[in-house]
Amino acid sequence: MPSLKGFRGADPSLLHHLLEQTASMREVLGRPVPKVPALRGRRVALLFFENSTRTRMSFDLAAKALGADVMTFTPGGSSLSKGESLLDTAQTIKALGAHCVVVRAEQVGCPEWLERHLGLPIINAGDGTNEHPTQALLDLSVLAAEWGGRWQGRTLAIVGDVSRSRVARSHLYAAKALGIHVRLIAPKTFLEPGLAERFDAEVTSSLEQGLRGADAVLLLRVQTERRGGGGPYLPSTVDYFRAWGLGEAKLKAWAPDAVVLHPGPVNRAVEIGHDLVYGEASRIQDQVTAGVAARMAVLYWALGGDQDA
Ligand code: CP
Repeated sequence: MPSLKGFRGADPSLLHHLLEQTASMREVLGRPVPKVPALRGRRVALLFFENSTRTRMSFDLAAKALGADVMTFTPGGSSLSKGESLLDTAQTIKALGAHCVVVRAEQVGCPEWLERHLGLPIINAGDGTNEHPTQALLDLSVLAAEWGGRWQGRTLAIVGDVSRSRVARSHLYAAKALGIHVRLIAPKTFLEPGLAERFDAEVTSSLEQGLRGADAVLLLRVQTERRGGGGPYLPSTVDYFRAWGLGEAKLKAWAPDAVVLHPGPVNRAVEIGHDLVYGEASRIQDQVTAGVAARMAVLYWALGGDQDA
């Protein structure tokens, strides 16, 4: 059974398959009874060692929409507080009958490590600053609907805290596989040396220059919690918003036809203006909705769901 640890080195056929499956799952979710018994009898464990609203809830809904049972682990109420290790916790979850583990953890590589020790399909729901593949998949499913599934010749502008963003990294890998052109727009302190060259991405620190001609803009959250007290990385959030934050006025002036994505949670008046969060160009709510179908597609793929269900 396959794991989805990330999109690094992903074959384009995997992305096309998961996007097609996401579209099929959207159709399921649009039915009067939005459920199919494709994963009846399977158990999906949700191991979230970092906080989450969207990802955890949408994996929970996705598993239930496919008829699976969900085992939810909450670190605060668990035996981790009595000194049980992450590995013993995971082995306990396997012994309770999990068929698949969805994991979010601050340690880069945690999904690989769990796969090696448990021998179960592992789905990466975000590992540190490394990857968040299901976020990239759901974002791409929103863009597929906007662009009619045509990727070549499209430009995605990714703005903000690129070096700390697992979402950006999964997008860079996926964009390379699909042939989407990427522009990275950030202050130098938010860029990892060599990243742009590895992905043939354009780089600019000018928001105006980066936005002109972009078909979509992906805004990233400024991740102060991943900076380990180092810095200063920003003069101030007010100055950051002035230079790299996006609101309706700048969008209309520089990329009037672009749609705007943000994985959430948003920092208003830091990377995004209040007026843009639910503005006309924003697809943020569509992203959240698409998360359920995308995670259904990944669970179905990882667990080899019943094709006849
Ligand atoms: N985008 C995202 O991963 O959101 P959550 O942290 O709320 O899951």
